[in-house]
Amino acid sequence: MKKYKIAWLPGDGVGIEVLEAAKIVLDRAALDAEYIHGDIGWEFWCKEGDAFPERTISLLQNVDAAMFGAITSKPAKEAEHELAIALKGQGFTYRSPIVRMRQLFDLYTCLRPCKAYPGNPLNYKEKIDLVIFRENTEDLYAGVEFSPVPPELSSKLSELSKPFAPFKNLNGDEYALSCKVNTKKGCERIIRAAFEFAKKNNRKKVTVVHKANVVRATDGLFLETAKSIAKEYPGITMDDANIDAMTMWLLKNPMSYDVMVAPNLYGDIISDLAAQLVGGLGFGCSGNIGDKLAVFEPSHGSAPKYAGQYKVNPIATILAAKMMLDWLGETDKAASIEHAVAEVIREGRVRTYDMGGDAKTLDIARAVARKL
Ligand code: IPM
Ligand code: MG
Repeated sequence: MKKYKIAWLPGDGVGIEVLEAAKIVLDRAALDAEYIHGDIGWEFWCKEGDAFPERTISLLQNVDAAMFGAITSKPAKEAEHELAIALKGQGFTYRSPIVRMRQLFDLYTCLRPCKAYPGNPLNYKEKIDLVIFRENTEDLYAGVEFSPVPPELSSKLSELSKPFAPFKNLNGDEYALSCKVNTKKGCERIIRAAFEFAKKNNRKKVTVVHKANVVRATDGLFLETAKSIAKEYPGITMDDANIDAMTMWLLKNPMSYDVMVAPNLYGDIISDLAAQLVGGLGFGCSGNIGDKLAVFEPSHGSAPKYAGQYKVNPIATILAAKMMLDWLGETDKAASIEHAVAEVIREGRVRTYDMGGDAKTLDIARAVARKL
């Protein structure tokens, strides 16, 4: 019996290739694990009307952790598009499998470290070392959406809202509604996760990202919760910024940020921005972490135009595998993988096209593996 069971969910597009790269590194690190393939992605949406089939959900209920590649969420070909419409006519609607997975398994922490590894020609500035905690289950991703808005809800909203509300005299089919839902519990657990991480890792500052000056109810709750939790951590400074100003400050002074915590959508936005500061999506790794299960992935998509070319940078996925090892408690193996990645970047001999080289996806994985 192997020590760990890992669900292996390549998905589609370059997801398949980057996961193959991560496997080379994990094998070399000799992780005592059984890897179990799970069906997920566009192919299963077309075949079965479900991109995240029940059998994959059951698999995730019985593993220690999972690695996930990427999923194409738009039709690649016209024919597939027609099929999707036909399936929709039968009552199927497409929902992003990763968003569903995060909610179904309550993977409430989206952990996204962004570090400028020395020697990376794509670093925006040296010495950037940010860790983003993105709430992962609620906010504008709650999935409470209406288009058209049902009449009973539309009239209730008109009744409850201010006289100048723009939809006041509209019918429900004249507007759409996406609800931003933030619970006290949801705010508390992600903010606490950020502070606990700061405490354990000797980080000095937690920056809270919001738009509480306008979005008073939900973001106000997030900010107030943060202020009260911060009092429990006297050694850590808390500051905060509105999301718009935050994007500007992140570009101006990325080195002055340390740990950041944000509701779901703002976290999504700043994590792409922060990934670009340290080399782009080829370096953006991500952990979707709950109390029982965690799923690790690169934060990039399936890049259909590169699919099958073994061209994209697998470093994000290799670093996601490193995060998985940390989560499993295999911290020595995790540290040696990170060290090996840092060495490959520093030496600069094996680089994919985004870094100005001509190495292929698996060449990077082999170069990392050789250093283990
Ligand atoms: C991410 C992605 C996803 C998200 C998409 C693919 C649904 O952008 O993981 O950041 O919005 O969360
Ligand atoms: Mg994103």
